[in-house]
Amino acid sequence: MLTVYDYSMARILANTELDGLLVGDSLGMNMLGFPSTLQVTMKHMIHHTRAVVRAFPRQLIVVDMPFLSYETSNESAIRNAGTLAQEGADAVKLEGGVEVYERVSKIVKSGIPVMGHIGLTPQRFLTLGGYRTVKDEQKLLADARALEEAGAFSIVIENVYSEIARKITEEVSVPTICIGAGPHCDGQVLVIHDLLGMGDVEPYFAKKYLDLKAEISNAVKKYVEDVKSGQFPGRENYKSRES
Ligand code: KIV
Ligand code: NA
Repeated sequence: MLTVYDYSMARILANTELDGLLVGDSLGMNMLGFPSTLQVTMKHMIHHTRAVVRAFPRQLIVVDMPFLSYETSNESAIRNAGTLAQEGADAVKLEGGVEVYERVSKIVKSGIPVMGHIGLTPQRFLTLGGYRTVKDEQKLLADARALEEAGAFSIVIENVYSEIARKITEEVSVPTICIGAGPHCDGQVLVIHDLLGMGDVEPYFAKKYLDLKAEISNAVKKYVEDVKSGQFPGRENYKSRES
């Protein structure tokens, strides 16, 4: 899986061998310049979901439920999950384990598949004390079991020791999708900005397959040079009466 936030990228990813696309609330940082995911609202998620859905990707589209869209009540969680499904999400993802058991169960029972997300849950970075590796094995196992029992079809495991991710993967029947949690999972997910070298930071757990920031800067530099030197527009780039 990879994250995707917009139409043009979704068009490109639509024809790849990826199994799933995640409209992640990491769009808050990567697309909107927010300091964290706490500023992301349902309005933002709907806007970006529509753009991705318009690309008609062949992959499963999972959409993150943003902060405060599922915490306050079962009813608002079902309504907000339902809204994302109406916009074209095939499934929603929300953060937490044991503490969101009831929410996940209610959303699934209302007919919307739910992907869980445990370990480092960025919407709770304030109470977690930052973006750090989560080490409580018993709590993580309980979280994964709770999600499975609540009916989650898959679980993202973020930033935990690989041994723990392996154990969870062995113990639950639903597929685990890892990020920063090692190779012993059923699948992997990354933020596309990290893969393409477009992000502000370069996390150790991601692999930069392209240096797109450098490529883009270089292309723009050449364009400015060409305009200044008269190389662009070239004769093929415009029409005149004589031809
Ligand atoms: O929002 C996001 O990008 C995510 C993942 C990377 C799992 O939730
Ligand atoms: Na997210």
